Amino acid sequence: MRVSDAITGRQSIRAFLSDKAVSDEQIEALLTVAARAPSGSNIQPWHVYVVRGESKDAITEACSARYLSGDEGAYEYHYYPRAWREPYLGRRRQTGFGLYGLLGVDRHDVAAVQGYRVQNYQFFGAPVGLFFTIDRDMEQGSWIDYGMFLQSFMLAAREMEMETCAQAAFCPYQDSVMPILAAPAEQMLVCGMSVGYADPAARVNSYRTDRLDAREFMTVLN
Ligand SMILES: Cc1cc2nc3c(=O)[nH]c(=O)nc-3n(C[C@H](O)[C@H](O)[C@H](O)COP(=O)(O)O)c2cc1C
Repeated sequence: MRVSDAITGRQSIRAFLSDKAVSDEQIEALLTVAARAPSGSNIQPWHVYVVRGESKDAITEACSARYLSGDEGAYEYHYYPRAWREPYLGRRRQTGFGLYGLLGVDRHDVAAVQGYRVQNYQFFGAPVGLFFTIDRDMEQGSWIDYGMFLQSFMLAAREMEMETCAQAAFCPYQDSVMPILAAPAEQMLVCGMSVGYADPAARVNSYRTDRLDAREFMTVLN
């Protein structure tokens, strides 16, 4: 697979084949590749927790219950801007409304929206979930490094015909997730990720998001 094909063909997958297993060896192989991502002074600021079985079920149960009860939880870091504004608000809406439109989810129908969104906590049916953490005293530079590590993992997965969905949806419930991971107190949750084989029959997986043309965000100075 060409690198550019791996990048442009990747999309967030939100329906996995639950009966097509992913082994610890496969995850380890992918993490070994992803760990070649660069990081400032090679400090490699990542910690990764692989969940399946009881620990995965416990996370599903805890987060689903909180989400469905209307508990919004609390992010330990701000993933999104505190005050949404254009052009970001419009892009966010376009992505969300596009997905709901494809699935026939009426965004004003609270039960329908919840029914869709709660699938985040079921790992979209994936056989394995990953949780990425970082030591709380790491600075913004390490978060840059982390993004490269995450993308490297997602691209390497595609070479093994696996797909992924990075998930910030777990972050508001980090106080439920971190104890199940038995993560040390000095670590904080960066995001979760569902990993597995895409369900080719699932409509949600046909959703393809837009991108800006490079000319809209590039500035050339002579
Ligand atoms: C760090 C990160 C967290 C994300 N969190 C979620 C999430 O919680 N749930 C979800 O369905 N998608 C999540 N996404 C997927 C984005 O919505 C998606 O990447 C974006 O809409 C672009 O679509 P694409 O990945 O299909 O190219 C996340 C993506 C990233 C990079």
